[in-house]
Amino acid sequence: MTEPPYTVTALPTMRPPGCPFDPPEELAQLREQHPLSRMVFPDGHVGWLVTSHALARAVVADPRFSSRHELMHSPFPGAISAERPPPAAPGMFIGVDPPEHTRYRKLLTGKFTVRRMRSLAARVEEITAEHLDAMERQGPPVDLVQAYAQPVPALMICELLGVPYADREFFQRHALALNNFDAVPEEQYAAYVALQEYLHALVLAKRATPTDDLLGDLAREELTDEELTNIGVLLLGAGLDTTANMLALGTFALLSHPGQLAALRADPGLADQAVEELLRYLSITHTGIRAALEDVELNGHVIKAGESVALSAQAANRDPERFADPDTLDLHRQATGHLSFGHGVHQCLGQQLARVEMRVALPALVTRFPTLRLAISSAEVPLRTNSDIYGVHRLPVAWDKE
Ligand code: HEM
Repeated sequence: MTEPPYTVTALPTMRPPGCPFDPPEELAQLREQHPLSRMVFPDGHVGWLVTSHALARAVVADPRFSSRHELMHSPFPGAISAERPPPAAPGMFIGVDPPEHTRYRKLLTGKFTVRRMRSLAARVEEITAEHLDAMERQGPPVDLVQAYAQPVPALMICELLGVPYADREFFQRHALALNNFDAVPEEQYAAYVALQEYLHALVLAKRATPTDDLLGDLAREELTDEELTNIGVLLLGAGLDTTANMLALGTFALLSHPGQLAALRADPGLADQAVEELLRYLSITHTGIRAALEDVELNGHVIKAGESVALSAQAANRDPERFADPDTLDLHRQATGHLSFGHGVHQCLGQQLARVEMRVALPALVTRFPTLRLAISSAEVPLRTNSDIYGVHRLPVAWDKE
């Protein structure tokens, strides 16, 4: 064994002042000197923090590291519960390991068909055009989060699942509470129960009258009502806030890098690469978690069975060993291999949908409004630092009217 591991007292979360897109500076120092360090979790558990790309990728690909909810200690500051988390409810497959995970994942992967994704791609184009028309009619200034970044993914996930869009205010509010550090555990639990009750009623309706959407399709499978309900909660919760924050923060990043914005405007064919680079550069789901099922030797240290490991996607995606000049936003680079959708068996199930949404919505926005700009100074943009999904609360934008 090498020297005793270095210990950090908390997950670094303070971004450098005036740099809303850059990870906390301490992460870069750790990655360079102690890519696997011990870390004190908010509940007092002493686990580990991984900051290099190679180690983060190795941990999520290794079946000796578990995703089981009941084994996890949360690295995030904020509300701390004295109680250990319960096992994932049936159907919440993000919180279980193979082979249980494999059964759900196979079933779901089969439902994300090429036909379904193609028809969703056509709908993204219609939906973005409708929302851009509405923004134009409303005139500047507009809050891009409310007018565009939230409704486009919300409509898409509603269409995919077969959830009534009219109920969006209800489920968006609860989905936000699920990821909010400032919410006390009781509030988070209440939000989860509210979403569960809502989806349970919907599942029963779809069992009675099958529909041609993903939940309707799943209603014909051998799943209990509880499993189907929780699959719905997971998909709705995972598909709303993530893509919305990528669209809003992605726009903020483009507006702050005029050369890159001009490149995308000049060549909308750059969209696929641009989206991968924005995913890498912004790393909105900044920290993942695993727990060791047995003692594992990694990078000269032993991670003991039961210890939680926090994986910093922010640090991994800015690792100079993996990406040259990592702190530069360069839409022309090949950013594939980033960990923003995770890696291994739990790699994001909705990534193709998220990509389709971003590849259409970002170029459509910047070409429709050639003079798009922030309507407030960038220092005034309220950042979502109180959530495990990073982004902006609001993004007021303006443009010159014709
Ligand atoms: C830009 C948008 C998105 C980002 C950055 C993102 C990120 C992630 C990440 C990092 C994971 C891995 C979690 C882990 O390993 O523990 C994940 C898993 C997941 N995501 Fe996404 N996601 C996005 C959009 C979506 C959408 C649109 C959906 C739904 C249609 C979705 C559904 C899921 C599901 C169901 C899982 C769990 C997969 C499993 O456990 O097998 N995500 N996502």
